[in-house]
Amino acid sequence: MAIAFESLYSDIAGRCGKLTVGKKTMRTPALLPVINPHLQLVTPKEMREMGVEAIITNAYIFSQSKQFRTRALEEGLHKLLDFDGIIMTDSGSFQLSVYGEVSITNTETLSFQRDIGSDIWVPLDIPTSPAADRQTTECDLAITLQRLAEAREVFGPDAPIAGPVQGGTFEDLRERSAREVMEIGFSFCPIGAVVPLMESYRYRDLVRVVMASKRTLSPAACIHLFGAGHPSMFALATAMGCDLFDSAAYALYAKDGRYLTAHGSYRIDDLADLPCACSVCRSQTAEELRAAPDRERLLALHNLYATLAEISRIRQAIVDGTLWELVDERCRGHPRLLEGYRELLAHVPALAEHDRVSKRRFFYRGDESCLRTEVLQYRQGLSRLALGREVLIAIDCKGLEGFDTQLSFKPPFGPYPVELKETFPIGPCEIPEWDEALVRQGCLGIRALAESHRDSRITVICSRKWADLVIRELPGIEVTSDEV
Ligand code: GUN
Ligand code: ZN
Repeated sequence: MAIAFESLYSDIAGRCGKLTVGKKTMRTPALLPVINPHLQLVTPKEMREMGVEAIITNAYIFSQSKQFRTRALEEGLHKLLDFDGIIMTDSGSFQLSVYGEVSITNTETLSFQRDIGSDIWVPLDIPTSPAADRQTTECDLAITLQRLAEAREVFGPDAPIAGPVQGGTFEDLRERSAREVMEIGFSFCPIGAVVPLMESYRYRDLVRVVMASKRTLSPAACIHLFGAGHPSMFALATAMGCDLFDSAAYALYAKDGRYLTAHGSYRIDDLADLPCACSVCRSQTAEELRAAPDRERLLALHNLYATLAEISRIRQAIVDGTLWELVDERCRGHPRLLEGYRELLAHVPALAEHDRVSKRRFFYRGDESCLRTEVLQYRQGLSRLALGREVLIAIDCKGLEGFDTQLSFKPPFGPYPVELKETFPIGPCEIPEWDEALVRQGCLGIRALAESHRDSRITVICSRKWADLVIRELPGIEVTSDEV
């Protein structure tokens, strides 16, 4: 295939990878800024200097433009836009979803994208509105899949074509769509028709749709989240396995006088100071930025810097294995993002199957942390622990003589043998003073251990402080308090 993806580091379902398109490569996760040839607040060349390796533009605009059509065909997109990185082109699908029709066919747009030298082409998929009923969504999906099959047939197995996943908000249709996209033969898969969900802050539905699509997509495929623009949701989307984002948000927000940060956005009129390290924000005051004659461009520059910085933070978090902490932090920026985060935690059994086994650290950030993949993985791994017949687990106190196996206890994980004291997750796990939620989670570990070791007899000895709670949480297990 002309498009190849390699994952180098991973955390949760997120990856730091390398995407190869023909002879060009780029690092992921990445943001592809949307370029509108008619309105360039920041030029592609300037973006290149800011570290942008890929951009996306709309082939439909070029094909319909008196000013640009011939130039694009004669000079090619890279020369016209003055950008030597990867250029992805979208078809007219977005126009289709907004205006209801486009005057171009599937093979026409793909031929045009090829002829202007685009690196990644997008077929004319149908982005079905999340409000559509099942029958409409199924009909749209059938047409999309037909067009993807046509794209492969006409342009061959090596053509750098993206295979968008559609299916509206119906999880089974998303699964079917993703499965068929794999069968037709795509290694680069955008997840489509999610813009209306993000615009109305429906992050819970977004998580459901993406997780459903990911269930049947190959882990080897590069996943692009179409139209995802606000940096506050990149960490959440990356955790689900999205590798690429594209957005006009940096420019649209700038036109609207809005200042993006990874925690949320501000109206520039409301800012008393500029909480950012970029050159725009360090070279003037908030008041000066408001009054600047080129304020729209300066805001777009800042918005792009803020967005790119968030991508860098995410990449570092993946390498360190601290993506859960970053997701937790970002998703507290808006209550609807928190809903998305909680929905993601409901998918932890699926995520735990692929999460890596060792990370730099585990920082506890509140009750949600108890539900993380590492806690479930640890609990499941307890079944492999070799135990003697008589087992003692000491909670918040010293053990006793006379047992075949002695275990310590660290919530939210549960029991551990001394050999694991320094290893992940027991060693590099920072938790605050224990509270009930933590201890209760740890008790689930004891229960899992008891269930997987029916031939051992488990006794728990516990400090007075936690005895009542532990007795309640461990029915059928002998619990004694250390000060009788
Ligand atoms: N841009 C935003 N969403 C979509 C989508 O579903 N399909 C295409 N082709 N472009 C998009
Ligand atoms: Zn800034």
